[in-house]
Amino acid sequence: MELSEAVRRRRMVRNYSSEPVEAAVVDRVLAAGHRAPSAGNSAGWAFLLLDNPDDVARYWRATAGDRVEAPDRWLRGLMTAPVLVVTLSCKDAYLERYAEPDKGWSDRDEARWPVPYWHTDTAMAAMLMLLTAVDEGLGACFFGLPGPAVDRFRAAFDVPTAYTPVGVVSLGHRTDDAGPAGSARRGRPPVADVTHRGRW
Ligand SMILES: Cc1cc2nc3c(=O)[nH]c(=O)nc-3n(C[C@H](O)[C@H](O)[C@H](O)COP(=O)(O)O)c2cc1C
Repeated sequence: MELSEAVRRRRMVRNYSSEPVEAAVVDRVLAAGHRAPSAGNSAGWAFLLLDNPDDVARYWRATAGDRVEAPDRWLRGLMTAPVLVVTLSCKDAYLERYAEPDKGWSDRDEARWPVPYWHTDTAMAAMLMLLTAVDEGLGACFFGLPGPAVDRFRAAFDVPTAYTPVGVVSLGHRTDDAGPAGSARRGRPPVADVTHRGRW
């Protein structure tokens, strides 16, 4: 598939069929995420792969609690995803990398980072996963963890505190869903409205 087509076709898919996703396909999605750019090549991301029903159920139980018993439409749909990839960022990897001689920020001062590139780089990895999912004929969605669920998520999967979950990429075969849902129905402002040429 041409990149332009993958970009055009990509949209968040929140309902999946019961068909499993081949392990080799999941591996290609993960490898694509790993191709993401990162500041100073710090590559301070990690991916927690949940690709069996028990692990996926544990994710939903940890993050949604009792809501899994009577899920709303959103949760009911996302819970059908056979594969979840939780993307995590590691700030320390950046502070360490930039303390090296070629960068020279040996004070490891977080104030040097007006933008937390550990999160942006992890998001770029997630974006490559989303596009690769399209290329593989799959549906995918990127969604966040509710703040209060983060500690429960860490405990359920032994995630070290140095890693922050940035969001989850769900993967699965698409069903005939009704097209753009939720926030996507708002549409996007035109390119011309968000582009400032030469000067704001
Ligand atoms: C950082 C980020 C967080 C998001 N969080 C959620 C979420 O928690 N739940 C959800 O259903 N969609 C989530 N989305 C998907 C957006 O709603 C979606 O990208 C947007 O409505 C545009 O639709 P499209 O991606 O299908 O084109 C998130 C997207 C991003 C980039």
